[in-house]
Amino acid sequence: MTALTLSTSSAATLRADAVVVGVAKGPKGPVVAPGAETVDAAYDGKLASIVETLGASGAEGEVTKLPAPAGFKAPVVLAVGLGEAPVKDGDGRFDAEALRRAAGAAARALSGAKKGAFALPVQDAEDAAAIAEGALLGAYTFTAHRSENGTKKGNGNGAPLAEVAVLGAKPRDKAFKAAAERAATLASEVNRARDLINTAPNVLDPKAFAAAVQDAGKEHGLKVEVLDEKALKKGGFGGILGVGQGSDAPPRLVKVAYTHPKADATLALVGKGITYDSGGISLKPAGHNETMKCDMSGAAAVFAAVVAAARLGLKVNVTGWLALAENMPSGSATRPGDVLTMYSGKTVEVLNTDAEGRLVLADALTRASQEKPDAIVDVATLTGAMVAALGNRTFGIMANDDAYRTAIHEIAEEAGEPSWPMPLPTHLRKSMDSPVADLANIGERMGGGLVAGLFLKEFVGEGITWAHLDIAGPAFNESGPFGYTPKGGTGSAVRTLVRLAERTAAGDLG
Ligand code: BES
Ligand code: MN
Ligand code: ZN
Repeated sequence: MTALTLSTSSAATLRADAVVVGVAKGPKGPVVAPGAETVDAAYDGKLASIVETLGASGAEGEVTKLPAPAGFKAPVVLAVGLGEAPVKDGDGRFDAEALRRAAGAAARALSGAKKGAFALPVQDAEDAAAIAEGALLGAYTFTAHRSENGTKKGNGNGAPLAEVAVLGAKPRDKAFKAAAERAATLASEVNRARDLINTAPNVLDPKAFAAAVQDAGKEHGLKVEVLDEKALKKGGFGGILGVGQGSDAPPRLVKVAYTHPKADATLALVGKGITYDSGGISLKPAGHNETMKCDMSGAAAVFAAVVAAARLGLKVNVTGWLALAENMPSGSATRPGDVLTMYSGKTVEVLNTDAEGRLVLADALTRASQEKPDAIVDVATLTGAMVAALGNRTFGIMANDDAYRTAIHEIAEEAGEPSWPMPLPTHLRKSMDSPVADLANIGERMGGGLVAGLFLKEFVGEGITWAHLDIAGPAFNESGPFGYTPKGGTGSAVRTLVRLAERTAAGDLG
């Protein structure tokens, strides 16, 4: 874990491996961003022209390393691109996401180093928090499966930057302290989700996932209840059991609850936790199954968000429901054509065993509804169709309430997570009509993400506000790292869920 400190020291005198400065894209080339004035002065005001000579333009994510000026304690200055400079007649402020991304790219470039001093633009506590959050997220590395030897070979997956010092941030100021603490908590919980997602599926099966929740529950004072396969059978959780029955690693339904004694509202979060999605008997072809350990990203996000709510002491109850199963083909697996009796009592004809997420979520949604929360939000890597629609960086939001969908879209934006509202066209529902059961688990192929959303809607309790986040695109980054987003598990939706919990606690959601 990367440590975070706030400091009002000057960039010259702070003992660090590198001083990070911002360079923005101006109309006539790179311009030095606020926060780096003293550094620029030490280069005789030539920092912008020096980085330009080295090929930098100030574009987002660009990283340029140069020797520090004489007299600096740090040997290196790392100039990071902030993208377009804010327009002159505005407030001259870089938006929080630009700061997060630049800090993240810089922290990533400092992997293996002990300390980075971040001299990026800070006008207030919010800016300092954005820099801290971006740096702590960007510093993330996943080394759990590497041997000593493998890690030392340095294949870009070494130790994270050990310490982030945010300059221009008053360590004893209440607002700065609180904002930095929130940023550190948020980043460590996003990184908790990333760790779970990146863990190999032979290691993180449903039982191991449940054990991880129990451990964190003890540490953070959460109430954890685990239904194992026996309890699931007794309870009639036909959806979760039907998906899990092909695997040697049996399914679990985990409830993890944070409660505040003075809470006025309860938010229920439901996560898809397929620890590996082979497709089942409707087997995925090679090329489509290599990254399917990421199919528990929704459950990881929900788990991390509940722990974050507890660590932040939010005045709201947050209950997480993790529907954990491994989707495997075998002699005991559900066949295409089987009919499952769900926890709600509805029957579902399974026509495609690869549409398994909606089956486990359906049972968890019914169970969550029984406790009559004020709202339910589910998070799932649910459909390839959503990836086709919105790409790899944006999640889709569907809901049974327009205002709630809009609110979550705005909250995600504030949190720094790209999302887009999607409809639930009622005419698509009949495409899931089954000749033998109440409904089928697949329907019209076009608009498949919306069909999946309509399936889930059937299992939400009457009168409960509900939203569904399909994070199949942004959950797992198969290309190169960018900004504060690493390769592999991203922790998508964690920050949105935490902000949603904060807004629910504040009682300002419609
Ligand atoms: N886990 C997949 C969806 C997915 C695709 C997640 C790509 C991440 C990246 C899901 O279980 C699935 O297989 N969905 C099917 C549904 C179809 C059979 C109706 C899909 O999208 O193809
Ligand atoms: Mn699937
Ligand atoms: Zn899946």
